Amino acid sequence: MSNFETIIYEKKDSLAYVTLNRPHALNAYNIKMRDELYTVLGAIKDDPEVRVGIFQGAGGRAFCAGADLAEFLTAPSPVVARQARWERDIWGLFLNITKPLIAALHGYVLGSGIEIALCCDIRLASEDAQFGLPEPGLGIIPAAGGSQTLPRVIGGAKALEILLSGRWLGAEEARNLKLVNRLVPRKELMAEAERLAQKIAQFDPVAVSRAKQAIIRGLDLNLREGLELEARLVASLL
Ligand code: COA
Repeated sequence: MSNFETIIYEKKDSLAYVTLNRPHALNAYNIKMRDELYTVLGAIKDDPEVRVGIFQGAGGRAFCAGADLAEFLTAPSPVVARQARWERDIWGLFLNITKPLIAALHGYVLGSGIEIALCCDIRLASEDAQFGLPEPGLGIIPAAGGSQTLPRVIGGAKALEILLSGRWLGAEEARNLKLVNRLVPRKELMAEAERLAQKIAQFDPVAVSRAKQAIIRGLDLNLREGLELEARLVASLL
């Protein structure tokens, strides 16, 4: 699990650390990263020792500056480049992990960068974080779940404004919109993410997983269905 090119995957006690590791390209998401992330997500999902995952970006400048534009430019068209990303249902896998995932965000969080963050459950950001969805300017739309996950987090009107206008958000606006849970000084970002992860990891993993499912799956249900889901999850714990 250690000989990846674009990702660093580490396990410490019951925490898994995923570092997007292409700092020379602001951790842009390429096909190699897609494949490696797929492997790593499978490991987080299936490894009983892992209780919480933490995602971060390598280097001082970015969590992830979106899809790798160099790959886009060598593909026959942005649409073809995007199609390659559908060959694996990485976002389906990401969103189906029932263990808590924390994103520690700094610098540029663009395109797939926001979308990866939105596949996580709790987002912490440093004050230098900047968020944007440049896809429509490139003739494409978000395809890593962002068109569905963003409005579920910040509401449809704001998601539309951000996506359609291409306007970037600073950290404070992102916090005010609840795109991120909390702002943390840059040098304390990972320590804070770790503290939170350790706290969660102390709890019974089955209860934690059911609690996550109750909230995440419940968001797509009406109240009656949501209460039924909760009852089933409670029963499964007894
Ligand atoms: N894909 C591939 N390489 C990228 C990249 C991306 N999405 N974003 C940045 N890089 C590379 C740059 O090409 C540059 O490489 P180089 O040093 O070999 O020239 C390096 O990362 C640093 O980026 P640079 O543009 O020099 O930094 P900057 O501070 O001037 O600008 C950004 C930072 C994020 C504003 C700018 O890089 C940018 O607009 N990136 C593209 C964002 C985007 O549209 N993503 C696609 C979303 S679908």
